[in-house]
Amino acid sequence: MPIETAVNIADLRVRAKRRLPKVLFDWIDGGAGDEAGVRASIDAFAAHRFAPRYLVDVSRRDLSKDLFGRTWGLPFGVAPTGFAGLFWTDGDLLLAQAARAANVPFILSGTSVATIEEAAARGVDNLWFQLYAARDPSITRDLLSRAQAVGITTLVLTVDLPVPAKRERDIRNGFGAPLTIDARKLLDAALHPAWTLQWLQRGGMPMMGSWARYAPKGATPQAVAMFMNAQLYATQTWTDLERYRQQWPGRLVIKGLQHPDDAARAVDAGCDGIIVSNHGGRQFDRAPTPLESLPAIRAAVDGRIPVMLDGGVRRGADIAIALCLGADFVFTGRATLWGLAAGGLPGASYALKILKDELDVTLGQIGRTTIAQLTRDALWGM
Ligand code: FNR
Repeated sequence: MPIETAVNIADLRVRAKRRLPKVLFDWIDGGAGDEAGVRASIDAFAAHRFAPRYLVDVSRRDLSKDLFGRTWGLPFGVAPTGFAGLFWTDGDLLLAQAARAANVPFILSGTSVATIEEAAARGVDNLWFQLYAARDPSITRDLLSRAQAVGITTLVLTVDLPVPAKRERDIRNGFGAPLTIDARKLLDAALHPAWTLQWLQRGGMPMMGSWARYAPKGATPQAVAMFMNAQLYATQTWTDLERYRQQWPGRLVIKGLQHPDDAARAVDAGCDGIIVSNHGGRQFDRAPTPLESLPAIRAAVDGRIPVMLDGGVRRGADIAIALCLGADFVFTGRATLWGLAAGGLPGASYALKILKDELDVTLGQIGRTTIAQLTRDALWGM
């Protein structure tokens, strides 16, 4: 079925579910604990209403948005999502390509399948790099040098993984490193032949690109994944953040903060931006939703650096709500991944288009013509 017959992000999710083995679909879809954080992040948007203004000429609408000294085509970009190359061959690169075509930022995950160098070779102007610090500080240092060497100017430091999450779907499905192949997974693969064919054509488990050079020489993709896993969840403190600040000459964005005091401290530590995020409910399901923590963080930051947001965005109207509530930019994780998993590059581009078109209609409906006009008074009762 042509991808364009999907009407919304929920349709793309259904198609991704059809194509992906259950173990992978659940890994994207699921969250920590009761998954209350996943649901609450989505529902938080639906709790808001707009206050439409009519008899306004909205025949021309401009969705562009300035951030970090540049004008982007849209006020939202693609959040870092690990292992995207498992869902579609070269998934990370295709997401980056879709984002570039839409003139929006793409954040390459610290656990991407594509290497930093491969991603940069396709274009570096919209490419940001997300760092997961390694337990071995020389690896972290090297990742930063590599990102800098290819010309990446924005580093995103994710801080909301102090310990591994308890994701119960993954535990039940046996998703982890090493990824053991048992009868249930073989049946799962057989029931999803389109994905399995692509997996086989590619030669099975892909290499976790950026990490391969740190693993013992000749390590198999499976061994590299295990090496990487053993390096993750490094202890990180404010002292480490100060070190990254010294090591990284470009922009430093911190992702995953929820508390206003942490936000104020991040500004004092020299961060250039904050992404308010609960990791899409994947790490800790009893944390506030990003919409809940946004106002206090904005107040603490007081306009000194941009405050961005991700988590729970499934509609263009959600993006408008986040902007009305004071986010300077928005990112999407699962929405664009569903597009990729459902249809590769056209699917990822189509997910961005769905959100763009919905945002455009929202603007028109509420009598606004620019993103700057999305302020609190565009919301009902504010
Ligand atoms: C993520 N997220 C994430 N974040 C990050 O900083 N590094 C990463 O490697 C990943 N990996 C990852 C994989 C998958 C499958 C998902 C769904 C998410 C979190 C991501 O950047 C973002 O915070 C959330 O996805 C936002 O929530 P929504 O948009 O998915 O609801």
